[in-house]
Amino acid sequence: MIPISLVPVRILLVDDTPTNLKVLSEALQGQGWKTLMATDGESAIEQAEYALPDLILLDVMMPGIDGFETCQRLKANAKVQHIPIIFMTALSDSINKVRGLELGAVDYITKPFQQEEVIARVKLHLSISHLNQSLQTKIAEQAETEAQLQQLAQELEQRVRDRTAELEISLHQLKTTQLQLVQSEKMSTLGQLVAGVGHEINNPINFVSGNLKHIDDYTRDLFALIQMYQRKDSAEDIAEFIEDIDLEYVAEDLPKLIKSIHEGVHRLKDISLSLRSFARSDISSKTEFQLREGIESTIMLLKHRLKANEKHPEIQIIRQYAELPPISCYPGQLNQVFMNLIANAIDAFEEKNETRSYAEIVESPNMIWISTEIDRSNQTVLIRVKDNGLGMLPEIQSQIFEPSFTTKPVGKGTGLGLPISRQIVNEKHGGQLECRSIVGEGTEFTISLPI
Ligand SMILES: Nc1ncnc2c1ncn2[C@@H]1O[C@H](COP(=O)(O)OP(=O)(O)OP(=O)(O)O)[C@@H](O)[C@H]1O
Ligand SMILES: [Mg+2]
Repeated sequence: MIPISLVPVRILLVDDTPTNLKVLSEALQGQGWKTLMATDGESAIEQAEYALPDLILLDVMMPGIDGFETCQRLKANAKVQHIPIIFMTALSDSINKVRGLELGAVDYITKPFQQEEVIARVKLHLSISHLNQSLQTKIAEQAETEAQLQQLAQELEQRVRDRTAELEISLHQLKTTQLQLVQSEKMSTLGQLVAGVGHEINNPINFVSGNLKHIDDYTRDLFALIQMYQRKDSAEDIAEFIEDIDLEYVAEDLPKLIKSIHEGVHRLKDISLSLRSFARSDISSKTEFQLREGIESTIMLLKHRLKANEKHPEIQIIRQYAELPPISCYPGQLNQVFMNLIANAIDAFEEKNETRSYAEIVESPNMIWISTEIDRSNQTVLIRVKDNGLGMLPEIQSQIFEPSFTTKPVGKGTGLGLPISRQIVNEKHGGQLECRSIVGEGTEFTISLPI
């Protein structure tokens, strides 16, 4: 089919014989096509460049440059090389036909002309050329689309880069916030600690002051008795007074009261020592520290949570300490790690105990095993904190070191205990904090520290 176009089809006829031109021209015009004419190769090339015809009918034998030469030049010219060329040659001339086709012509027609054949071939090659051109346009369009796609991809890449940069900034901010949170977590641990210690101090103070009241009464009675002796009161009066004040009981009770006051004072001293040891947060430099001392002071400060109460008997702590050399570390921070691990174990017991009666708990009591050992081959010390609490499901266990991950009710857990502990152990001490847990059996945390 011939392309429908507003511009009529134009065909350049090249032949040195005017009669040929005339015959051809009439035949083609009969199809509604416009014809252009040239009588030699040079002017054919000129016209082709100038008028850009849709097709060229080219005679082989011409004076000056012949059809082949003309064809060669046209095909070498970027401006016109797309225009289909049909050679016109004598019927017998099969060598010429082949040569023409080799030079880039699309077809040939033989003289003398068969009008119908010429028209049919021209029509065919116009269609092919048209198809070709739309194909070229399509290819060009596609190339453009590809270029656009490429540009889009580049833009996208740039956006990803920008976004990554933004994300990095956010991450940095997040880390800063996290550090601030760490600080506030420290504060809340400290808050809990102070409350616990307050509770802990209250006990000995209460019984010391209660005992002092009795001692006060007893001393008053004893002085009165001495005065009776000094006044040389009658033996009956003295005997009666001795009975009144129950001297026998006082003699028995007074040493007990004093002993118990001693205990109370001793306990207060312990607490004060533990507090001092716990609060040794040598932030700027490492100190030689006996880990055992840190663990003990932590246990002491958590005593109020370990004691028996109406819900459960005392939580037992089983210690297995190895002979360890002092370790160079930040004691205040390691104590915080011990505190977090032991507090977590106690929390796990509390949750576990919710569904058990007192008798059931007595039957299988809450226990925490704390051990230290030294691995000389690896030059590390290992500190284990193990409990027989609830244990954890693997999907929980995989998240416990994520900041803010908690399974505890709002207000109870911040989910920062373990991430902070890991940060302290890994980053501050070049060690490792690992967890192993089995649901229904319990959990074991292992801290390993390089010596
Ligand atoms: N010994 C343990 N037994 C069972 N689950 C534990 C134990 N230790 C930690 N977990 C689980 O890991 C979670 C994260 O512990 P982490 O100490 O980081 O935060 P938290 O105890 O929930 O809150 P916070 O310590 O800030 O008060 C806990 O909520 C709990 O589910
Ligand atoms: Mg915790």
